[in-house]
Amino acid sequence: MPAKVILGTQWGDEGKGKITDLTADEAEMVVRFQGGNNAGHTIVIDGKTFKLHLVPSGILRKDTTSVVGNGVVLDPAAFLKELDQLKEGNVEMGQLKISDRLHIIMPYHRTIDGLEEAAKGNLAAGTTKRGIGPCYSDKTARFGLRMCDLMDPEAFMHKLKAAYPLKAGYIKALGGDIEQTMDEIFEEYMALADRLRPYVCDVSVLINDALDQGKNVLFEGAQGTHLDIDHGVYPYGTSSSTVTGGCLIGTGIGPKRLDKVIGIVKAYTSRVGTGPFPTELFDSVGEHIADKGGEFGTTTGRRRRVGWLDLVMVEYAVRVNGLDSLVITKSDVLAGMDEIKIATHYTLDGKDIHHFPASMAQVAKCVPQYHTMAGWPDLKKEEWDAIASKGRDGLPAGLAAYITFIEANLKVPVEIVSYGPGREENIYL
Ligand code: GDP
Ligand code: IMO
Ligand code: MG
Repeated sequence: MPAKVILGTQWGDEGKGKITDLTADEAEMVVRFQGGNNAGHTIVIDGKTFKLHLVPSGILRKDTTSVVGNGVVLDPAAFLKELDQLKEGNVEMGQLKISDRLHIIMPYHRTIDGLEEAAKGNLAAGTTKRGIGPCYSDKTARFGLRMCDLMDPEAFMHKLKAAYPLKAGYIKALGGDIEQTMDEIFEEYMALADRLRPYVCDVSVLINDALDQGKNVLFEGAQGTHLDIDHGVYPYGTSSSTVTGGCLIGTGIGPKRLDKVIGIVKAYTSRVGTGPFPTELFDSVGEHIADKGGEFGTTTGRRRRVGWLDLVMVEYAVRVNGLDSLVITKSDVLAGMDEIKIATHYTLDGKDIHHFPASMAQVAKCVPQYHTMAGWPDLKKEEWDAIASKGRDGLPAGLAAYITFIEANLKVPVEIVSYGPGREENIYL
């Protein structure tokens, strides 16, 4: 399968990084296509933890080329810092390429992110304050500065001169102060440009050439389907296209190039940020899952909200992404519980709802309807490893029934069940 996409089916943090790193084993190229350093992808190899935000999760494999697509928004300082940290960790990195068409996060985007959040009241999404939304806003308003501008001092200054006074005025109107002068920004960004220059290219040409040569290319999603700008919990999601369609736009490939789309599903649901969450747990069960699952944001360290698995949400992801298969992560976190619930549909004002509503006021009123199942035992790592060697037949009865129930409801096969953060902790079904 030359071209595969891996993306999140829920609200992010499903374990995309782990599964991308795993699948990158057979990929010559791993491509990020949207989002920015709002993402936090944790990968654990031989007990060593790597936290990636902007650099694709293929970077930890030395024979893999990591590509940052045009749909990504890139904060140059944050990106270079991440690269430096990987180098300090003595990671043997593969090649790295960055799109000349991607948009650059400017210091004023970060300032505006914080100020706009404060101004939004209960419409604030609880952003990561990395300047993501304001950068994508400038992209669509055509005030953005792109990587090709950063590579050309004259073009960069020309565009900065147009944007800067407007941004300074806007920041002032929001009650803030622009922190740097235009010249300070120019100097800072030109220094960063020199370090980025060796990586910059037309990634559409690069990726299409690789596919023409029959190479395996893996497209790595960030965030999740329900954070998508069109399909997510607007306005509580993020500002990029996190779904399969975003992969085409964010890299410059045609739709017929894709062979397989894999959806990552956490065995329960988590959310970092605000907005309605139908299956959210506020009791000791929720606390237990959050603690056992180590549910703290990789990027901001915030405690994640948790709830039962919600098939209404995952059905939406199957549909809008055209998912071919699923990977269930964190099955070990639910282990040891007597009973486990899965939401199969909602009720709203006395009516059954099978499809995730557009209106957040409606989502907030939806009452999840649960199917209750027996759990599976808490197992030692050696016991999980023994199960992994047997595949589907080795699954404990409760977990086997959980997987079968998901497959029967969504009509999509589960291909991997993950039982720990480590690269090897997977059961192939
Ligand atoms: P991503 O944003 O989708 O890449 O996910 P994150 O890395 O933000 O969050 C997932 C967390 O769960 C990370 O800390 C992973 O190391 C961890 N993880 C992934 N798969 C499993 C699993 O099967 N079991 C456990 N216990 N942890 C996992
Ligand atoms: P990964 O790739 C979970 C959430 C934020 C906020 C909303 C908008 O690790 O799965 P933004 O900073 O993007 O403007 O914030 O989206 N959010 C994420 N939640 N995982 C992520 O990425 C996220 N990236 C953004 O918490 O509610
Ligand atoms: Mg994450």
